Amino acid sequence: MNPLPKGAAVDARSRVRRALAIAGSLRSGSYNRLLLANARTMTPAYLEIRSYDDLASIPLFDEDLEQRTSGGPDAVKALRVLVAEADGLLISTPEYNQSMSGVLKNVVDWLSRAGPEEVLIGKPIAIMGASGGRWGTRLAQANLRQVLTATESLVMPQPAIFVAEAAKVFDERGQLSHDLTRKQLEKFMLAFSRWLELMETPRLLKAQ
Ligand code: FNR
Repeated sequence: MNPLPKGAAVDARSRVRRALAIAGSLRSGSYNRLLLANARTMTPAYLEIRSYDDLASIPLFDEDLEQRTSGGPDAVKALRVLVAEADGLLISTPEYNQSMSGVLKNVVDWLSRAGPEEVLIGKPIAIMGASGGRWGTRLAQANLRQVLTATESLVMPQPAIFVAEAAKVFDERGQLSHDLTRKQLEKFMLAFSRWLELMETPRLLKAQ
């Protein structure tokens, strides 16, 4: 974890915020997972990121299954708890056919359902993405943003990070070795930590 970024004031009222990171890919060498792993090393001291690594256990959304299992099988229930407990979500999406991946959309569909708690309503989210193409998930992110609008989550509007030609920006150990992308990611993570703080107020108001 990095020390406080240069110029950042230490706010005594600040508490450590915890975010859950979800990569929308099942691929073992996923660039999106690598991007999130690099992002974790760039957080300011008051932000902790936990990786969600159980995406493969989430079945295809099925309303019958949802009903039979009273809200979803155990893997879905476990994820709902993680999301409910997190101060925010950090999602990295691949781009498949100019859209987000199917596994990611599937997870959003499960999480969007009313359970004991509607876990996405008012949840601060930041989205990023890496792809092999030249546009670096621009369309996938636009698509994910649109879908998240329906969930009433609070998606950080800016800054954006689109990692294009992903094979070129990571070294053989998976470190982000492209300077410009590193700087963008550092800026992005600082903005995300501020977004979590800012978005706490509307959530608290809603809870009253
Ligand atoms: C892709 N890929 C891709 N890339 C892109 O920039 N735009 C696109 O529309 C698509 N479409 C697409 C469709 C399908 C079915 C596959 C399998 C792949 C390439 C894709 O972004 C690349 O494989 C990424 O590396 C996937 O993300 P992870 O698994 O590395 O996180």
